[in-house]
Amino acid sequence: MREWSRAERKRGHRIGLVPTMGFLHEAHLRLVDRARERADRVVLSSFVNPLQFGPREDFDHYPRDPARDRRLATERAVDCLFAPSTEALYAVDPVVRIAPGPMSDVLEGAARPGHFQGVLTVVAKLFHVVEPDIAVFGRKDFQQAMLVRRMVADLDFGLEVEIVPTVRELDGLAISSRNSYLGPDERRAALALSRALRAVEQAWRGGQADPKELERRGLEVLHAPGVAPEYLKLVGEDLRPVARADARTVVVVAAAVGGTRLIDNVVLGEGMANDIAVRAS
Ligand code: PAJ
Repeated sequence: MREWSRAERKRGHRIGLVPTMGFLHEAHLRLVDRARERADRVVLSSFVNPLQFGPREDFDHYPRDPARDRRLATERAVDCLFAPSTEALYAVDPVVRIAPGPMSDVLEGAARPGHFQGVLTVVAKLFHVVEPDIAVFGRKDFQQAMLVRRMVADLDFGLEVEIVPTVRELDGLAISSRNSYLGPDERRAALALSRALRAVEQAWRGGQADPKELERRGLEVLHAPGVAPEYLKLVGEDLRPVARADARTVVVVAAAVGGTRLIDNVVLGEGMANDIAVRAS
């Protein structure tokens, strides 16, 4: 992989990397499109990273379809599909890992201990193996995107991190590989997350700036049949609670629908209308 990248670099090409865990969907492919706009060569990595799954999480059942991934990547003109085996990427169990610090102790990190250490460790490995000029991540995983950005800044990785707005189906549901776990009733119930975010956004546009009031409004909508709310919070880019909501404030939400944990978010000043809407494939 690294030889390919270095050869392309020597030819004067800028390299863009889109890290994924495969089972590609339209949101992944939007990240590919963005990488293509910002780079001359696009590498898509597909690797289900065991390090970021907890012992009771869905690593064994995580959806996989390498043949379909290959077809979709080819159709989207990905220049290099990097899909290493677990043994290839983790020839030895890494003893030294990235410690993500306090930004990883809250929200998703609180619910999934060790998750972000696993994410940042594999992302650091991918950056070292691919040596991209730019790497593209999705805002759907807001905490992850902020942590990758901080890792790159704090540890001088020497690449640019680009963050693409959340890609949603036409009814507002944020696209996710885990949506494939949802039955038809759960799929309908899952709309409570985007609905709650929209309610908070509307209340904020209506002049409400008190985070406690906005969170109360969001939770009211999130409490719907079949939905087990986990958190709905107003935070800044540092993932810390804000004293007053402004255009940069992000509303983050997590809830379980059936056995599936879903997350979503909206940046108040941008609004859900500026996210990317696509027809389900
Ligand atoms: P995965 O869940 O496959 O997501 C790969 C990339 O696609 C991430 O940057 C994620 O934020 C982005 N993405 C997923 N759904 C999106 C949506 N609806 N809108 C916008 N972007 C979306 O995230 C991971 O894999 C892994 O943690 C990884 C970074 C690859 C490390 O293993």
